[in-house]
Amino acid sequence: MQVLITAGPTHEPIDPVRFIGNRSSGKMGYALAEAAVARGDEVTLISGPVCLAAPRGVARTIRVTTSDEMYEAVHAHLEGIDLAILCAAVADYKIADVAEQKIKKEGCETLTLELVSTRDILASLNFPKKKFRVVGFAAETNRVLGHAREKLSRKGCDAIVVNDVSRMDAGFASDNNEVTVLFREGDEVSFTNAPKTQIAAQLLSLLGARYKM
Ligand code: CTP
Repeated sequence: MQVLITAGPTHEPIDPVRFIGNRSSGKMGYALAEAAVARGDEVTLISGPVCLAAPRGVARTIRVTTSDEMYEAVHAHLEGIDLAILCAAVADYKIADVAEQKIKKEGCETLTLELVSTRDILASLNFPKKKFRVVGFAAETNRVLGHAREKLSRKGCDAIVVNDVSRMDAGFASDNNEVTVLFREGDEVSFTNAPKTQIAAQLLSLLGARYKM
């Protein structure tokens, strides 16, 4: 099957030298890409800025920086895909007016930045007549499954993979993860704490069996 995967954070520029980012390492998305290659899938990996080499065997890796670039890259690579797994930690806000020159601190005790919403890439894939399945990720710190269920229906995905990012032993920037997959049909499957490579392989075989891919 043909799989598109987004991974890593996005960086939203403030000025030529600064940005707003987050702690996503990209490990989960890259592990998914590797697991998909191991299954024999054709993989398009769209990655934000991370310190990871593209997994061997990935058909194409597109490196982007901002949420806008990631949005455009995803929409440019939808043709022929069977499954989109959006694992990237996309910034929810970007700077309204990016400064052309470095912002100077002289004489400024406070600095107020105006932020505007970024486009939601996952939600943008919920269009009529789409021919592929869409799986999102949800990073939650409280009411984990409740928030994730709402997100699943709000964003119109087929399934959402939830992790509790308040934990130090799993999720963000960790080598391990512990996730629950919520399906739009109402059922759920949990995977116990394990290396992200193992979780990735389990996830892909679950999705492959579920969607007969
Ligand atoms: N996502 C996306 N584009 C965005 C924001 C999020 O594609 N602009 C995707 C992520 O890749 C992930 C899912 O949406 O698959 C959920 O991301 P998350 O950060 O948990 O949810 P948010 O929509 O940002 O909601 P909130 O931060 O309020 O929990």
